Amino acid sequence: MVQVAVFGYGTVGSGVVEVLETNQEEIGRRAGDGIRVKYVLDIRDFQGDPIQERIVHDVDVILADPEIKVICETMGGIEPAYTFTKKALMSGKSVCTSNKELVAAHGAELMRIAGEHQCSYLFEASVGGGIPIIRTMNDALTAEKIDRIEGILNGTTNYILTKMERDGAAFDIILKEAQELGYAERNPAADVEGHDACRKIAILSSILYGHNVDYKQIYTEGITKIMPRDFAYAKALDCKIKLIGLSVITKEGEFAMVSPRLVPSYSPIASVNDVFNGIQIHSNMLDTSLYYGRGAGKLPTASAVVGDVVECVKKLGTSIPAAWDETEKKLTEIGAFRQRYLVRMKGKPEALMQKMEDAFGKVQAVQIPEAADEFAVLTEEMSEREYQDAAEEFTEIISMIRS
Ligand code: NDP
Ligand code: HSE
Repeated sequence: MVQVAVFGYGTVGSGVVEVLETNQEEIGRRAGDGIRVKYVLDIRDFQGDPIQERIVHDVDVILADPEIKVICETMGGIEPAYTFTKKALMSGKSVCTSNKELVAAHGAELMRIAGEHQCSYLFEASVGGGIPIIRTMNDALTAEKIDRIEGILNGTTNYILTKMERDGAAFDIILKEAQELGYAERNPAADVEGHDACRKIAILSSILYGHNVDYKQIYTEGITKIMPRDFAYAKALDCKIKLIGLSVITKEGEFAMVSPRLVPSYSPIASVNDVFNGIQIHSNMLDTSLYYGRGAGKLPTASAVVGDVVECVKKLGTSIPAAWDETEKKLTEIGAFRQRYLVRMKGKPEALMQKMEDAFGKVQAVQIPEAADEFAVLTEEMSEREYQDAAEEFTEIISMIRS
């Protein structure tokens, strides 16, 4: 029997215990040995919960116990998760985490430490919730040269955008629902401002390049400025609005960004709704492949953490190779990235079209019946820098969504 510990008995941590208990037999068979949760570290006591007997408040009890071989870090945040993880790895205990904030900030260092101590640092649950995207990139796509990763990487914001469009529901009410369902971050600004998706695309980009992509260099915009009328303009163009994490190699450079984007209705990503995530990868041999599933929530996320635990148990005493090293990968400035822009303008098209074409080049006008006081234009492809320069000439711009 292999003894494991869970750090943080919240949404994901309690799910880890549930998955290990519910699928005990299958997990034991696949791991080659039974897996038992010996301790759960948390601040609270969980009086009356069957886990109560195994709760400890002192991390050193777990770190000093030689029986503990694997730890599931589902506390979240940088500290004390970083310190606890480092200590665990240095004592030869593997760590499996759902904590993307920590993976994006210190993943390369933690994987190196694991490598030096014959244990592993795994983080399948850190991107795409229950979707096995990390192992797919590390293993199944290992013969591929990837040049494009794009997708819906945050369940909370996809849930909000879906309900805003489908039901016309108010942003704050849907966000509250997402929090109650256990999808949102402790501070939901991380979801709605795009920071969570930014960390996830940084992790996927780091795997792509094999070097550390610092999330702080990734241009990030969330969904807080999306208004009900934006969906009407998108519909007029037969598109959906999705918060997209993008990492792409073009002839202009190597780019990563997170922002709301217009996605054509025929694209598979456009059909990814509610809490689901969808990640599309383009690579030179396989061409396009798509990965879809629940991007947040207790059991899907916990299942991914437990999948990593099984992997560690199968390879006890060895180290699963690091997905990327600590060398910093510098990306190209986003100003050079080329795309189209849907620009909403106050006023009438007749009065502004000529000036707009002079500034942006050829544009397509878009009008919606519910908005007589404004209109929109869709530009041709131009660089972000060219767009920003042209936009400076217009005080009438209400908002812009990339396409
Ligand atoms: P929760 O807030 O539900 O759970 C975190 C738990 O850890 C809480 O019980 C918390 O206690 C406990 N905790 C916090 N700090 C300490 C500490 N210093 N010592 C002991 N226990 C501590 O978060 P989630 O389960 O939702 O998320 C956990 C991690 O997984 C985060 O990194 C999150 O980003 C990630 N994640 C979450 C997903 C989801 O769908 N919820 C999906 C994918 C990843 P207390 O509540 O008393 O503070
Ligand atoms: N808050 C995150 C989301 C959790 O909504 O996608 C999963 O990483």
